[in-house]
Amino acid sequence: MSASIGYRRDDEGELWIESVPLRDIAQRFGTPCYVYSRHAIEVRWDAYREALRGRGSLCYAVKANGTLAILSLLAQRGAGFDIVSGGELARVLRAGGDPARIVFSGVGKTVKEIRRALLAGIRCFNVESAAELERIEGIAAESANPAPIALRINPDIDPQTHPYIATGLAQSKFGIALDEAEALYQHAAASPHLTVEGVAFHIGSQLLSVAPLREAAERTAALVRTLHERGITMGHVDVGGGLGVRYVDEEPPDPQNHIAAVAAPLSDLGVELLVEPGRAIVAEAGALLTRVEYLKQSAGRDLVIVDAGMNDYLRPALYDAAHRIEPLITRDDEPIRDREVVGPICESSDLFARHCPLAVAPGDVLAIRCTGAYGAAMASQYNGRPRAPEVLVDGAQAHLIRRRETIDDLMRGESVLVGG
Ligand code: LLP
Repeated sequence: MSASIGYRRDDEGELWIESVPLRDIAQRFGTPCYVYSRHAIEVRWDAYREALRGRGSLCYAVKANGTLAILSLLAQRGAGFDIVSGGELARVLRAGGDPARIVFSGVGKTVKEIRRALLAGIRCFNVESAAELERIEGIAAESANPAPIALRINPDIDPQTHPYIATGLAQSKFGIALDEAEALYQHAAASPHLTVEGVAFHIGSQLLSVAPLREAAERTAALVRTLHERGITMGHVDVGGGLGVRYVDEEPPDPQNHIAAVAAPLSDLGVELLVEPGRAIVAEAGALLTRVEYLKQSAGRDLVIVDAGMNDYLRPALYDAAHRIEPLITRDDEPIRDREVVGPICESSDLFARHCPLAVAPGDVLAIRCTGAYGAAMASQYNGRPRAPEVLVDGAQAHLIRRRETIDDLMRGESVLVGG
């Protein structure tokens, strides 16, 4: 059981988050429940900011965890934001984020989303296709202001991660091929409705080596040089996010390594760096608390059935992701057995761990660690399950930042068929 920022186990075997025993959180807010350490988020953010100091700006990837309190805590620290929808734009604005620090990524931006973002005065659209560039140009032509753009290029690099979260290979749906970028930049530079701000890439997520990121930066640097020769200057290079975290025993690079790797190939170009970390800021700060409902032996399997399901935390079911699962209070009156931790959902993939050495009894609460990123953000109501609450711990204080959904929330906006 490894320690991580914001969490510790005391001599009595009890797991704490900051100055609060996690047992108190489970008692007060019930289970399943997401809990985050404010300190852990701030430490990770500050480490990135320090690594980037004087070289550029951070745009937190909202998709990792877009809960308002978390966005507002980052906005208060001067964060920029990477958004991928009109909904995320609205969240950032509601949380007090500065529109002039927002970049807008994503392959399918709708007319409505582009209009709203232009009106809000965002910093840059990261454009993912020729068709999107044309659409943005047309919308900007109807308004008084030109649209700020960067092309998201696809550097065709294998990021060595799970195929579902690899985005920088030629066959992926993301970005614009390097050899098409130049002509599009020529077009954009000549348009009165577009201003060329920079270039962007994002090659994948949960990266455990910086080598592919360095290579992407090298390929991008070559493009920037060519464009500079043609008289098209780039103000910034957006290097995306992607830094991995330690879920079990991975050894991810730190923000310092990440920035050093991408900054080196770009250092003589006079460009500002934008970085879009998501997971690396919030993952380790979060835990999902879940209660053991039943123990069950089935065909040689030692099952621990918990009250959280894949609707609450999807990563194991979707990516076969492994996580540390620990009891809130260690007990020595039960044998440690190799167990499978499963949820209540009617899917065989609703499984949090295949091999987990645990001493547990029904009623015990477990912490699924490192679930602050792509956890609550990807939760659903599948199987008629209200979404779990989220709690932010700040020293000895625990703030409910999102209440548990009710049964009424499950049916909000629906109507029964009247009169057949
Ligand atoms: N920028 C862009 C354009 C992105 O598409 C992403 C993530 C990020 C930044 C942030 O990447 P990060 O620093 O968090 O790796 N649901 C998956 C992850 C999907 C990531 C999608 N894009 C998971 O749970 O592993």
